[in-house]
Amino acid sequence: MVRLSVLSAAALVLLSPSAFTQEPPAEPRQGQAGKDVIWMPTPESLVERMLTMAQVTPRDLVYDLGSGDGRMVIAAAKRGAQAVGIEFNPELVAFSQTKAREQGVASRARFVQGDIFEAQFSDATVVTLYLLSTLNMRLRPTLLKMHPGTRVVSHAFSMEDWTPDEVSRAEQRTAYLWIVPAPVEGAWRVELAGGASFDMAIVQRFQKLEGTLSLDGMDVGIREPLLRGDAIRFGFVDSNGVWHELAGRVSDGRMTGTYQSAGANEKRAWTATRR
Ligand SMILES: C[S@@+](CC[C@H](N)C(=O)[O-])C[C@H]1O[C@@H](n2cnc3c(N)ncnc32)[C@H](O)[C@@H]1O
Repeated sequence: MVRLSVLSAAALVLLSPSAFTQEPPAEPRQGQAGKDVIWMPTPESLVERMLTMAQVTPRDLVYDLGSGDGRMVIAAAKRGAQAVGIEFNPELVAFSQTKAREQGVASRARFVQGDIFEAQFSDATVVTLYLLSTLNMRLRPTLLKMHPGTRVVSHAFSMEDWTPDEVSRAEQRTAYLWIVPAPVEGAWRVELAGGASFDMAIVQRFQKLEGTLSLDGMDVGIREPLLRGDAIRFGFVDSNGVWHELAGRVSDGRMTGTYQSAGANEKRAWTATRR
């Protein structure tokens, strides 16, 4: 008798209408608990500005760390990018997956249930964040080791002394952009096509550079240094008062590019190797 009533209860559950239709995932509630920070959504206009700051194109792979209801990932996928959300809360993951399917971008928008401090995202070309300053600072060492040129965008929270490359505001909210700089600190040997060569010492603080060249027994300061991802540019004035401007790329401990000297019509090649 007991066995029969258990069986009929099971049959009732199986035959109930919800057994035939999948329950829609629960609607997220603002302020609901997350692992390290609650869920609060980025306003849609700021989502768009953040993706624009990062200049997201179909060539990008965008990761939103703590992806909430999936809006950043879905908006990136609508721009043609591949996009991945890493989210601790499985209900938010399920909600995001349903929304991506409904909006026709499921082939480009992927959601992974996991912890952002354990997940792998080193293949990202763009990382988006709406976390907390303390969490940004925990992520900062990992972000700085990413491929030079990776764009990092954060809603509301900074990276302390890593100053942003852009600050934008929408709906009284702030968004910050950083471009991961190539590591260039240290001693270099610079060779200019045409025969001249000299030592160069660079001091680097994130994307900000200071440097000196050893020219004719003097330490000559470099001017207007600019490092954006793996692209480097700087100038100097030689002992004859002539301005030289060098631009190039940094890759695998080597710089290569072209330089132009004031008064010269042509650009010529230069390289720098680590000493
Ligand atoms: C402030 S919301 C931002 C949501 C979304 N990125 C946006 O901009 O609309 C932060 C999200 O991070 C998630 N989260 C918190 N700690 C996490 C962790 N350690 N790993 C993965 N997700 C986490 C929360 O569940 C929440 O959905």
